[in-house]
Amino acid sequence: RIASVTGRQLWDSRGRPTVEAEVILESGAVGRAIAPAGASRGAHEAIDLRDGGTAYGGFGVNGAVAGIGAEIAPALTGMDARDQAAVDAALCALDGTPNKARLGANAVVAVSMAVLHAAAAHAREPLWRYLANGAKVRIPLPEIQIFGGGAHAGRRTDVQDFMVMCPKAGSFRRALEITDDVYRAAGKLMEAKGPLTGVADEGGWWPNFSSNEDALDTLTRAIEASGHRAGDEVYISLDIAANELGDASGYSLALDDGRLTSEEMAARIVEWAKRYPILSIEDPAGQDDWAAMAAVTAAIGDRVQIIGDDVLVTNADRVERAAEAGACNAALIKVNQVGTVTEAKAALDAAVARGWGAIVSARSGESEDVTIAHLATGWNAGQLKVGSFTRSERMAKWNEMLRIEESLGAEADYAGASAFAAPIA
Ligand code: PGA
Ligand code: ZN
Repeated sequence: RIASVTGRQLWDSRGRPTVEAEVILESGAVGRAIAPAGASRGAHEAIDLRDGGTAYGGFGVNGAVAGIGAEIAPALTGMDARDQAAVDAALCALDGTPNKARLGANAVVAVSMAVLHAAAAHAREPLWRYLANGAKVRIPLPEIQIFGGGAHAGRRTDVQDFMVMCPKAGSFRRALEITDDVYRAAGKLMEAKGPLTGVADEGGWWPNFSSNEDALDTLTRAIEASGHRAGDEVYISLDIAANELGDASGYSLALDDGRLTSEEMAARIVEWAKRYPILSIEDPAGQDDWAAMAAVTAAIGDRVQIIGDDVLVTNADRVERAAEAGACNAALIKVNQVGTVTEAKAALDAAVARGWGAIVSARSGESEDVTIAHLATGWNAGQLKVGSFTRSERMAKWNEMLRIEESLGAEADYAGASAFAAPIA
């Protein structure tokens, strides 16, 4: 049973305040979790509580921390930490808003995940194994950023994430080794072309390209220069984050030819998927542009993974709606987008029930918290998106996955191509 719940203000990877929750059970088991924070957020996401004003640029979380002590702790004390659904239902009821706006999704998500950690600690199991509860799991396929753009890099490219995936690597460890080769090769190519501008919010190279296609060409060449075959050993994965570029009334690709209609935007994405070794595309259209999402899925969804992030916001109802509209074939799962572990799992279950892929994902603002590595494994999601291959808030998750894979020994089953709804050639 839960004996105490406390909150504190810590700092995230952008140097902004964030919430840590600590849950102690009567047995002495302790669980702790830190809330992440997005920069390119969907309008339908749960909302963080920030203090506003001038301190910390308005990003303070004193109010969110105070709510944990004053309201959440009394409500959860005495509850069974193993009953995550009841704990999360109590959090939702206590907040009372549809989007966690009163207590703050940052407070709620930290507490929800800390309760989960405490329950696993009580069971003396690693979190992933506690979540799997005896079911067979796969080691997730990593999706790793090479260039960061969009809202994470001063909008140097329109596309937010240029990533790679290695479905045929055979193991997680091998996938990271290949990605390391590509990351270094990409850095060399960029250095040869002109000054490197450093790294973006999620640790990818900060791009200095003349067009979005220049970035795609450079990434394709980097894969080849790394000694691995593009479109076989290594594939490109994009997060367009099109929500940042427009909506159903039109999109602007500042690096390319300016204004595109929704139909033209969908056609442009389809054309990229035909020209480049692309295996996965996230948010090719804005959060309410169901028609363009459906057009892209209809055109290439049989061979390319079409992921909904801002369009689905880890919400089971929106997954259902998207499935009916034929708008995606995979769901990004970010616990803080919806606020609780139970609701995030419901969104994942809805996606899996539709035969979709599922990708547990970090946010652009992160910390040393590695909960998502355990969720991706224990929930058997099949895929994990964390950001790039530098900066310890990213590497902490990849490193945790290496520990999990190693602990499974010969039983470790790398999800690889089985992670996709559509079979790959
Ligand atoms: P965010 O971006 O965490 O800044 O929202 C991540 C993503 O779009 O996948
Ligand atoms: Zn995204």
